Amino acid sequence: MAKQAETSNSRKTSKTATKKTARASGTRSAKPDAQARQKRSQTVASKAAAAKTSRQQIHGDKGLADLFEHGLRDMYYAEKKIYKALPKMIKAADHPDLVAALTSHREETAEQIEKLEAIFELLGKRAKAEKCDAIDGILEEGDGLLEDFGASIAADAAIIFSCQAVEHYEISRYGSLRAFADALGLDEAKQHLDDILSQETAADSKLTELAEDSVNAAATDYDDDDSDDEKAA
Ligand SMILES: [Fe+2]
Ligand SMILES: [Fe+2]
Repeated sequence: MAKQAETSNSRKTSKTATKKTARASGTRSAKPDAQARQKRSQTVASKAAAAKTSRQQIHGDKGLADLFEHGLRDMYYAEKKIYKALPKMIKAADHPDLVAALTSHREETAEQIEKLEAIFELLGKRAKAEKCDAIDGILEEGDGLLEDFGASIAADAAIIFSCQAVEHYEISRYGSLRAFADALGLDEAKQHLDDILSQETAADSKLTELAEDSVNAAATDYDDDDSDDEKAA
């Protein structure tokens, strides 16, 4: 028995020695580590795939081309609304240069609607307007300003104030859309957007020029009138 026990102990000792030797040489640990790494990478890959599927389920598989199309629909809606809103502004405007600038920009707006339709056609899509809350808000505010200031000496200044908000919104959106067209390699669409953007920028500059050269100063005349009244009284 003692011999057997000794033999058994020797076997244990021998196994422990083998383990130590294997651990020291790296042969024992290499295999489980490789398996663990493989298992971990499989887990990471399956989690990433699940997250992607989940994102697609929640947000849909959308990219820049979809955002570009969405933006075009927004601006198609916006331009049509602006075209309809401008006559009210033109009618309320007093300065002949302001009337001319707004009338001319309304004609450009009609061209811009056609340009957007041409871009939809280039994309092989039907021209479709999508309700744009931003332009609705800006135009609504313009209506309110016209109600408040339309009969005042600051009417032209208020009209420019509203119209420049529209122009800046358009400049912002067309700037982004032009960059999207560029990134998507849509050269012809980008050219149309460049043309529209130039018209918007020029319209904005013209309004600034009118405001700074005459309209704003004319809107301060009431101060002089008040002081005249005060003097008379
Ligand atoms: Fe426009
Ligand atoms: Fe414009």
